[in-house]
Amino acid sequence: MRHIMVLNSKGGCGKSTLATNIASYFATQGAAVALADYDPQRSGLDWLARRPADRPAIAGVAGFEDGLRHAPRTADILVIDAPARSHGTELTDLVKHAETIVVPVLPSTIDMQATTTFLEELKSVPKIAKKDAKIAVVANRVRDNTLIFDELDEYLTKTRVPYIATLREAQNYVRAYTRGLGIFELPEYLAWPDWDEWEPLTAWLRTKRSQP
Ligand SMILES: Nc1ncnc2c1ncn2[C@@H]1O[C@H](COP(=O)(O)OP(=O)(O)O)[C@@H](O)[C@H]1O
Ligand SMILES: [Mg+2]
Repeated sequence: MRHIMVLNSKGGCGKSTLATNIASYFATQGAAVALADYDPQRSGLDWLARRPADRPAIAGVAGFEDGLRHAPRTADILVIDAPARSHGTELTDLVKHAETIVVPVLPSTIDMQATTTFLEELKSVPKIAKKDAKIAVVANRVRDNTLIFDELDEYLTKTRVPYIATLREAQNYVRAYTRGLGIFELPEYLAWPDWDEWEPLTAWLRTKRSQP
């Protein structure tokens, strides 16, 4: 079973948005997918509750209650939606569950600053330092041609953590979440720009590059 975790100690950067979309992506590809929600705010489980019965099923796991004890053994892919404010031993414990970690970051000075500190902490977790888990950063909610995006782009290029994809700010994410879907499940004429932006991320997730 693959374990893909979406993680950043900063709240509101898009962890649940990325986790639900990664889960939906693999489900639409025919994989058996489970989504473990480690955040007591339950966004991941709330999204699953909204999911229409005629879409590929995704199993829900209340990770914040009892970890992965009830995760279905038959899942090919387990996506983990992590809570904000994960630090210290809690962070080390969380990272034990994953071989692949995706870190979303917003183009804002506060978020970039917080993420710099977080990435340093993450890189010092022994499992990551030993490369027993691979990490990548994704720029999220980017509005093109803004100065702050240029700053984010420059910042991400300097972090020495692979910078995999840039996702725009789009109502499609809100629209999809409300309906229990991912952007891959919206009509092509609406969502094709987002599908294009996700391509490098899904390509990374599909290959060995994202695995130890
Ligand atoms: N690319 C995006 N475009 C538009 N809205 C987004 C995007 N990514 C996230 N959001 C919105 O930002 C808010 C925070 O995202 P969320 O995924 O809940 O973050 P986190 O789980 O890290 O707290 C939500 O309202 C979500 O719909
Ligand atoms: Mg969340």
